[in-house]
Amino acid sequence: MAEIKVEEILMEYRDEVMLIRIHRPDRKNALTQSMYTALTAALAAATADAKVRVVVLTGSGDSFTSGNDIADFLAAPPTGEESPVFQFLAALRQFEKPLIAAVTGMAVGIGVTLLLHCDLVYARAGARMQLPFVNLGLCPEAGSSLLLPRLIGYPRAVELLLLGEPFSAEQALDWGLINAISADADATLEQALATAQRLARQPAAAVHLTKWLLKRGEAEAVQKTIALEGRYFTERLHAPEAVAALQAFAGRRRSSE
Ligand code: COA
Repeated sequence: MAEIKVEEILMEYRDEVMLIRIHRPDRKNALTQSMYTALTAALAAATADAKVRVVVLTGSGDSFTSGNDIADFLAAPPTGEESPVFQFLAALRQFEKPLIAAVTGMAVGIGVTLLLHCDLVYARAGARMQLPFVNLGLCPEAGSSLLLPRLIGYPRAVELLLLGEPFSAEQALDWGLINAISADADATLEQALATAQRLARQPAAAVHLTKWLLKRGEAEAVQKTIALEGRYFTERLHAPEAVAALQAFAGRRRSSE
């Protein structure tokens, strides 16, 4: 079993279920490069361990994740496919076992787009979600420009991606973006874990085959879209309008003091 050393990504085992917890609550679980690397390693460990049948991904505190760490975007932006964020997206896209998200609080940016690669998504009532890529001078990633309109329809995808409008778990449920809502964070995680245990009892090879069959129709298009979006996203991070928006967020605290 690979040991995951980054303390912001915690792994626990509940029988045949691996629980991966994003744990950086003072930064709303914003994801740094080392956290992406640890998430990729956690998925690899889940793949390598035959005892692990299902993975549940969750957050800590009041958040699922506020997306990419903005200071990291400025200090060490991704440069290409080998960058930790793109390695993580590749691992997510190729993950063969069932992956369940327990969205125990707010989800922003990649915190929402990664849900498009999960097989089941449970969220806390009232959890806020947002895809503020364009607001930040960036563009969609993780295949969301393809997957989101397919899932929720083009008009809504435009509101979420071009206007960057925040939305609620209730709206996400209504649109078919998530599976169910629970009253609070604990109940959300419980529901995700209970479903994971049920899935873990299903015949493993049939589960893998069925997941592959469900995904294969759009697998190539998703792979190409992630690569294309990734190229533009990497470029956009250096565009003056993006740098200004990211610096405005990063300097927020200093200027409000
Ligand atoms: N990157 C870096 N730091 C982040 C962060 C991120 N993505 N999200 C939150 N933080 C930090 C805040 O700067 C703040 O730090 P401080 O205590 O030093 O001021 C701390 O986490 C708490 O966040 P705060 O903004 O005070 O919490 P909130 O509940 O008012 O708002 C969010 C939460 C997620 C709505 C807000 O923090 C936000 O918009 N974050 C940026 C999200 C984003 O744009 N992500 C990238 C998408 S591509």
